[in-house]
Amino acid sequence: MIVHGLRLEKNIMTELIPVLNENEIKKLVADIAKNISDDYKDSEIVLIGVLKGAFVFMADLIRKITIPVKIDFVALSSYGSSTISSGKIKLTREIEIDLKNKNVLIVEDIVDTGLTLKYLINYLKSFEPKSVRICALLDKYERRETEINVDYACHRIKKGFVVGYGIDYAENYRELPAIYHLRNVD
Ligand code: IMP
Repeated sequence: MIVHGLRLEKNIMTELIPVLNENEIKKLVADIAKNISDDYKDSEIVLIGVLKGAFVFMADLIRKITIPVKIDFVALSSYGSSTISSGKIKLTREIEIDLKNKNVLIVEDIVDTGLTLKYLINYLKSFEPKSVRICALLDKYERRETEINVDYACHRIKKGFVVGYGIDYAENYRELPAIYHLRNVD
């Protein structure tokens, strides 16, 4: 239930503070899709979406890209607290598509510490792709713990926990069409 930006979930009241509205997201996704289409024209590209958070972004992104693409998904889980990445990562869904000599573009919802992507890049490189680049909806650039270069970032944020547009907190809020900062209300 959402009432004026407030939402009651299992007796915890949270406030949703707007970060990006639907139109802003639409424009950012269209702009990044154009850059990708320009950069990869005349070459084969495989987009690898990171489940579950990137599924909405991936669906919108591929419909704005104007060159042929192939897609696949991986799922990763990080153990530990649900709002802070623990760095201990486990692959829970493997790729099914052949990546040998292909240009791979990872599609991620948020790059935070970068530890998830570091693990994923190593995994994908074992399939001997031609190149591996990163496209992220949100780049939390100040929180990086490992050197990860986000080649295509729709939007950069400093800090805070965000939800909506496929991004969750404990499996909630993925259905929201816009992106919000989540704040607990005492
Ligand atoms: P990293 O390994 O620290 O870069 O964490 C990346 C993953 O943590 C993302 O794919 C998200 O699943 C999750 N994550 C990081 N920040 C947030 C957030 O603000 N909201 C929801 N999930 C987040």
